[in-house]
Amino acid sequence: MQNFQFHNPTRIVFGKGMIAQLGKLVPENARVLILTGGSSAQKTGTLDEVRAALGTRHVTLFSGIEPNPTFETLSGAVETVRSEKIDFLLAVGGGSVIDGTKFVAAAVPFEGDPWSILKTAGRKVVRAIPFGTVLTLPATGSEMNSAAVITRRETHDKLPFFSPHVFPQFSILDPTRTFTLPERQIANGIVDAFVHVIEQYLTCPAEGRVQDRFAEGLLQTLIEIAPKALATPPDYDARANLMWVATLALNGLIGVGVPQDWTTHKIGHELTALHGIDHARTLAILLPSVLQLRREAKRAKLLQYAARVWNITDGDEDDRIDAAIARTRDFFESVGIATRLGAVGLTRDAIDPILTQLEHHGLTALGEQGDIDLPASRAILEHAL
Ligand code: NZQ
Ligand code: ZN
Repeated sequence: MQNFQFHNPTRIVFGKGMIAQLGKLVPENARVLILTGGSSAQKTGTLDEVRAALGTRHVTLFSGIEPNPTFETLSGAVETVRSEKIDFLLAVGGGSVIDGTKFVAAAVPFEGDPWSILKTAGRKVVRAIPFGTVLTLPATGSEMNSAAVITRRETHDKLPFFSPHVFPQFSILDPTRTFTLPERQIANGIVDAFVHVIEQYLTCPAEGRVQDRFAEGLLQTLIEIAPKALATPPDYDARANLMWVATLALNGLIGVGVPQDWTTHKIGHELTALHGIDHARTLAILLPSVLQLRREAKRAKLLQYAARVWNITDGDEDDRIDAAIARTRDFFESVGIATRLGAVGLTRDAIDPILTQLEHHGLTALGEQGDIDLPASRAILEHAL
């Protein structure tokens, strides 16, 4: 196991009715900016519940943060924070609203061009405005991590930043707030969480035994609950489990001390930035091809994954690996998510521009060994056609 430090300061407040706790969690005399997405928080009543829990505090609303939040929109929120003398942010929404709020929190006190926060992956962030979140879409893990992914519409750049200053102070996870989600977003959440676990687990053996067992437990839980989590009317316990799995999948715990391989996410972000495909849908398209083309580098962990997650123990090694990759693809398809570029209308012509963007972003040595260069990324994309 590699050396590591682990510190996660986010307080999780979990369960039905927990939005009422906002009254205790947000400082009494705070000037609060609530940040939301398009209109779901208003329509579903979550925004009213949040406002009621904030009582007589000074509250301003910034709405309109889009899926795959943009620098352009968020710059408006930065202005609002400054002009309204806001000192506490409250994100009410999914990963996009939370990521956007992290950017605003870091950008307001930032000296210099705020886009350089993304260009330097967060290394220049030295402070941020405190913020909390009310999660309405279980998927990204943003509610308990220090990462955010921001898009610059103008240039089609979709880049992450990381900073210990942008951990939420608290996140409220009320599973009933997911009941209004369309099936498409629940499916996205299942796949996103699944791939987050895989990218921290399916690399090469590192004697991270408890990390492996946690990861396998999270994957099996997702497989087990997927049909109930998608069902209507919504099932509270299935949604509660989905919410907690998605948080644990990317709060740092399972990734400590072990190699990681974010190839699927990195190429996926380029697909979203160029073609507007939902984040999770890019992952479902790319992951089976990454596993197939990296089967030698990942052989030992693929066999462990086959046996422990899918109970595949018969046949020779290659048969077991083939079966595990096929089961992964089938699982994504079973929740209604396509696993081929062709299914989202992309052909071979789409590949060169993706490679150009990967090169532009310096993403030419991906994978746990740093050996996924541009020709290897091309092979992954061609395999995914
Ligand atoms: O905009 P509104 O009207 O609020 O509607 C949203 C949006 O259209 C809707 N929605 C959210 N909660 C709802 C609801 N509709 C009905 N009922 C509810 N309770 O769902 C749509 C999608 O929301 P979005 O926040 O975009 O989805 P998600 O949570 O999947 O976030 C995706 C973003 O997170 C980034 C992705 O790249 C993408 O930009 N990621 C962030 C990560 C992180 N910070 O660690 C890691 C991830 O790998 C990911 O990259
Ligand atoms: Zn993701």
